[in-house]
Amino acid sequence: MPLLKASPLVEALQAYSAPLEGRRGLLRLDFNENTTGPSPRVVEAIRAMAPEHYGMYPEYDALKCRYGQVLGVAKEHVGLFNGADGAIHAVFQAFGAVGETVLMATPTFGYYAPCACQQGMVIQTVAYGLPDFPYPQQAVAQDLQRKPRLLMICNPNNPTGTRVDPGWIQAMAAAHPNTLVVVDELYEAFTGDTVLPTALQQPNLLVLRSLSKTAGLAALRLGFAVGSPGVVERLERVTGPYDVNGFAVTAAFAALDDPDHVRAYVQEVGAARDWLLPRLTATGLRHHCDGGNYLLLWPEQDPETLVAALRRRGVLVRPMTGKPLLDGSVRISIGSCDQMKLFWERYQECAAVS
Ligand SMILES: Cc1ncc(COP(=O)(O)O)c(C=O)c1O
Repeated sequence: MPLLKASPLVEALQAYSAPLEGRRGLLRLDFNENTTGPSPRVVEAIRAMAPEHYGMYPEYDALKCRYGQVLGVAKEHVGLFNGADGAIHAVFQAFGAVGETVLMATPTFGYYAPCACQQGMVIQTVAYGLPDFPYPQQAVAQDLQRKPRLLMICNPNNPTGTRVDPGWIQAMAAAHPNTLVVVDELYEAFTGDTVLPTALQQPNLLVLRSLSKTAGLAALRLGFAVGSPGVVERLERVTGPYDVNGFAVTAAFAALDDPDHVRAYVQEVGAARDWLLPRLTATGLRHHCDGGNYLLLWPEQDPETLVAALRRRGVLVRPMTGKPLLDGSVRISIGSCDQMKLFWERYQECAAVS
């Protein structure tokens, strides 16, 4: 029997795969996750969930109100998604179309491009600068003149950590009302840079947030899109009615009720970064660390060899092999001080045997 083909756009795609298998029990410095766990209140809240709620489709309104309260906005500005990835997918499905353009600086988060390809969009890229990866503001401003359908800005950028001035983003959105400017603020807690709440006056500006990184709920999958009610409602048109699960909703309330937990984690990551950076500098190896809970390091040995050697010693980091401008580097998430001390010990062992 011949294989039934999917649509021509899907036949041209490759599945987006990330090295997610076999990570339990290891020091996870490979996905920029929270490495110490969520608030104990989250665990309590999930344990306390009545079995009746396992069998019910979840309710969303109260959580939209609650997150709106956190940001000081009305619930109509808030959409809930299966992780920020769910929101990204919805953005492209709702606003992308065959032959239209999405503009983005690269290298950046890897899920934008496959979502664009699913819609048959043209991906126009502008390179971050070298050697310190500044955002290519001038080139992006110039390309905006051609009225792309979407501009994706990751702020701070994963994996370069590059910070973009929120005032500039807002000015670009105001000057280009036919482009939806999407600001992926997944790592905003580490820099404080945000276009919220002023973004809400700009109908073509949309902000993405998530409870995956600082709040430690990556497994539960809860992302937010915050913007004008008209844009949020269009994203909901292409989202299933129960795409965010009930455990995530329960966990989100508990996480949002414990902002001190996130604050303490962000502070700990800052201290760990301050501990590690001078040690990297002393090696003389090229490295780069800006916004976000991650850094780039260009090791002496082949990055894949280093990654494998670290894995054998219980530490996971991410090779950037094949990424534009980053070939030869590894991305290392920053966890707690103790975790970075362990990383450093293991890294030195690997460097010594190479
Ligand atoms: C910039 C950026 N956006 C979105 C995501 C996806 O996050 P979520 O777990 O909320 O789907 C990630 C995850 O690594 C990310 O780095």
